[in-house]
Amino acid sequence: MSTDKPTVFVTRQIPAMGLEAIARVAEMRVHEKPMPPTRQELLQGVQGCAGILSLLSDRIDSEVFDAAGANLRVVSNFAVGYNNIDVTEAKRRDISVGNTPDVLTDATADIAVALILAAARRLREAADGVIHGQWKTWEPLGWIGMDLRGKTLGIVGMGRIGQATAERLVHGWQMKLLYTSRSPKPDVDRQLGGRHVALDELLSDSDVISVHVSLSPETRHLINAEALSKVKLNTVLVNTSRGEVIDQMALVTALKKQQLFAAGLDVCDPEPLPVNHPLLELPNCIVLPHIGSATVSARNAMAQRAARNLIAGIQGQPLPFAVHQSHLHTHPTNQT
Ligand code: NAP
Ligand code: GLV
Repeated sequence: MSTDKPTVFVTRQIPAMGLEAIARVAEMRVHEKPMPPTRQELLQGVQGCAGILSLLSDRIDSEVFDAAGANLRVVSNFAVGYNNIDVTEAKRRDISVGNTPDVLTDATADIAVALILAAARRLREAADGVIHGQWKTWEPLGWIGMDLRGKTLGIVGMGRIGQATAERLVHGWQMKLLYTSRSPKPDVDRQLGGRHVALDELLSDSDVISVHVSLSPETRHLINAEALSKVKLNTVLVNTSRGEVIDQMALVTALKKQQLFAAGLDVCDPEPLPVNHPLLELPNCIVLPHIGSATVSARNAMAQRAARNLIAGIQGQPLPFAVHQSHLHTHPTNQT
């Protein structure tokens, strides 16, 4: 049936409040399957669309822009990270790009703290021990972990989530705070007693390192074998940013040699991590399936923000949460 509403492609089921808002103003194609669209399904799904609501698992690049065609005005990512989108190419084509900042900060910081505690107190080993019959008695010398109070926390990437993680650990465990980021953060220094340092100093002086940088060519494998050789003995390393920020094979080696005490990962490279991956065999590594933002309120709020960005974009309005804002010239609306 023909309609004058612009067409959009939503690459997966997202919370209903997002879909309902979009359906009121657009002709909506939703990829209904539980797995992400294949490349072919993605290229087909976007054809003739004015907007794409993408997930972090969808690679959105010039091939997708070409497949969508000249009507495409906006890509709205259902995530705060947008390393899956070729933003340079979107800018070149004057296509807006949006993301969902802030509303998942607390949920993701909670997972970072959960992983820090799990790694420091050896929760994976202890829980596995119960399941596999190794719990024979109360063990005065068994499953001994590391405590956090008063230790030094190193935040790699003092953005929104890095700061929320630091707040929890400085206020809750009185940890001392070092951090890296492109620029110093005077508020963090004042409120949390933080100190902006070079990565090398953070690596060598921290007891717990929590990674929160966005993924870019500059931060890919930021934590590599050389970086890991600088950490002190008995350090805990946690990553809730993107798997590619850590050289995972270097991490396997460091964990095997017990150069690190333990690691906790919410993100991996690749995702999902194959079940026979060497990381999963290591008792001092706990891996989660990228659940940082997986709470009801965070996911609902992400759906609302992603929908608002998509709707604003197809209507030629400024995006409320923009990574890149197009020049708002009027494209011809989509014909279906
Ligand atoms: P954000 O506020 O933009 O923070 C990113 C931080 O990375 C900023 O402090 C930035 O420094 C720093 N940074 C970027 N490039 C750098 C470089 N080359 N060298 C040093 N520091 C650099 O983003 P956010 O909201 O906290 O989210 C951070 C990341 O977490 C996202 O990009 C995403 O990949 C990931 N994430 C994961 C989950 C999950 O489910 N596990 C959930 C949400 C987000 P400046 O402040 O100086 O620019
Ligand atoms: C999740 O990883 C996000 O970037 O929102």
